[in-house]
Parts: sequence; structure tokens; C-alpha cells
Amino acid sequence: MRILGIETSCDETGVAIYDEEKGLIANQLHTQIALHADYGGVVPELASRDHIRKLAPLLQAALQEANLTAKDIDGVAYTCGPGLVGALLVGSTVARSLAYAWNVPAIGIHHMEGHLLAPMLEENPPHFPFVALLVSGGHTQLVRVDGVGRYELLGESIDDAAGEAFDKTAKLLGLDYPGGAALARLALNGTPNRFVFPRPMTDRPGLDFSFSGLKTFAANTLHQVMKEEGELAEQSKADIAYAFQEAVVDTLAIKCKRALKQTGLKRLVIAGGVSANKQLRQTLAELMQQLGGQVFYPQPQFCTDNGAMIAYAGFLRLKQGQQQDLAIEVRPRWAMTELTAV
Ligand code: KG4
Ligand code: ZN
Repeated sequence: MRILGIETSCDETGVAIYDEEKGLIANQLHTQIALHADYGGVVPELASRDHIRKLAPLLQAALQEANLTAKDIDGVAYTCGPGLVGALLVGSTVARSLAYAWNVPAIGIHHMEGHLLAPMLEENPPHFPFVALLVSGGHTQLVRVDGVGRYELLGESIDDAAGEAFDKTAKLLGLDYPGGAALARLALNGTPNRFVFPRPMTDRPGLDFSFSGLKTFAANTLHQVMKEEGELAEQSKADIAYAFQEAVVDTLAIKCKRALKQTGLKRLVIAGGVSANKQLRQTLAELMQQLGGQVFYPQPQFCTDNGAMIAYAGFLRLKQGQQQDLAIEVRPRWAMTELTAV
């Protein structure tokens, strides 16, 4: 069985092909980062239009990469939520139409399920059950995962997502959108302990997160430093980046530890754009070593948005006979706990 996967929920156009026997055989991606850079964030209408421009060439490139033609495809999977409504509609319309024309089944995939299952594409995939920490630009969630589609939400952010907090703090430091990775690079030169940021919501029980206060804390620190130094020196920027990243990573680690204790599980999966963060990976690896457990994560290219995770999630669902009817439906807001089990 060979499944074509299409991802267009935000600012990345991803097209990939997953083969039941060979695994991932094509993976094409176009990022719109440069398109939105001047605006300091994603402009939804520009995103939709660019997905329209890029989908057909990426589809051709994916078929060529896998040395296949359309008649070799047995099903089409596409992201139908959550995300930007216009962007989702482009991918869903193209994908559903291709499946209709090729006379193969189609399946709409939950974007966060795609992220959650991405570590399964690696050589040493995690077994169920496990705790997943999903950290992207739009979501921060701790989920108990008992199987595909068997998700229990343990906690989530009550305001900004971790990635969003990274991006907003990066913007304060003068870095381009999305600044998460750039902030992490800046933090490499930071001085430990010059600034210490709070670890929000760790002083009370529960598994929810709140990251919007950290961005305010960063802004206040920055203004204080500017008052003292006149202007913001490169070293001070790096020191603020260091303290911010340390606080986010530490907070995520504290909550992961709690979630593992609460569930009695020993396997932790991290996924979503922020799971590419080296400091987070290192801290969670150390934590799992302490706890005698194991941590799993996707390779960096599958942490951020991509078509491969959608092709794979689609394969798992189509294989079990699930499929979408002919209507093109998108769900910009969609709780992962509503998904059907496989
Ligand atoms: O999963 P993703 O590609 O898109 C969403 O579904 O939101 O995540 C994008 C987010 C952005 O906020 C980006 O700044 C952040 O992931 N990100 C990082 C790193 N790489 C990407 N944040 C911190 N450190 C990184 N290395
Ligand atoms: Zn994503």
C-alpha cells in the first residue's frame, strides 16, 4: 500500500509518499518563511495562495522522487485541521479531488496526530503506551497515548504555546519570524545565571502550562538592561535568550516528569516544531535516564511541519479501512481526543 500525504495547515507545503514495505519513499517540502518574513508572522491569505502555487509542482516532484506515477498511489491523506482555514481548504480540496480522480480512498488527518506519530518513522520507534509532549507553534500538550487515536489529554497551555512564546521572545530580541531556532542559536552564547526567569505554574499541582508571562518577563528584563546599558548589547541579548530557553525547557521537563509519575509510564515522546530544540532534547534525555525510561523524538526535519507525518498517519488509518466520504470538510479547531481509535 502506498499513501500520498499532503500537509498545508500553516506556512509549509508538504507532499510525501509512504510505502507499507519500504517506508518513506518521497518527501518534498516548500517553506513559506521568506514569504511572510516582512510581516513578522504568517499572513493567512498569502499562505493559501502559495499552497495553491506549490502543490502541483511538489506532487510531481514527489512522484518523480519515488519513481512512481499516479496509478501507483493507493490512497491520499491530507491535513484537515487544526490550522488556518484557507490553507487547510487548499490541501483538502486538492487531496480529495486527486483521490476522486484516481478512484482511491482519502482520509483527513489531524495535524497534531501527524506530529505525535512522526517518531514512528524512525528506526527505533516507541511502543504504546507512552506520554507525548507536543510542542509546536500552536499547541503545547501532554497526552497519554494508548494507541493510534487513543489519546487522553493530560494538560495543555492555557495561553501561548511554547513555540509561540519562543517566536514572540525572538521578535523582542530582533530576530526574524519564526524565531525559535534562531533564539536557540543565540542562547548558545548566553551566560548562565545572569538572568533567572520563572518556571510558570510549576509551584502548584496539575499538568497545564502558561507561557505568556515568560514573554512579558523577557520584555521587562530587556527594558531594564536597556536602561542600564543604553542599548542592548549582543551579549545581553544572548543572556536573555539563554534564560528564556532555560525556563521553558525546565518547565516542560518538570511537567513531563509529573505526567510520567501520574501515568506510571516510562516512555516519553516529544514532537512538534519545538522538539527540534537541542536543549530540550538533552534535558529530557537526562530526565529519562534518571527515571530509567526512554525518550523518543523525530529527526529534526520531521519535528516541524511536513507531509511525511501526514502520509504515515493516513497509512495507519486507511490500512484499517477508515476513509472520508466525498465532502471536503476542514476543521480549523479540532480536539485530538475526538479522533476515532484504530
Ligand atoms: O510544528 P510546527 O512546525 O508548526 C506548528 O504546527 O505550529 O512548529 C513551529 C514552531 C515555531 O514556533 C518555531 O519557532 C518552533 O516550532 N521551533 C523551535 C525550534 N525549531 C522550530 N523552537 C525552539 N527551538 C528550535 N530549535
Ligand atoms: Zn505543526
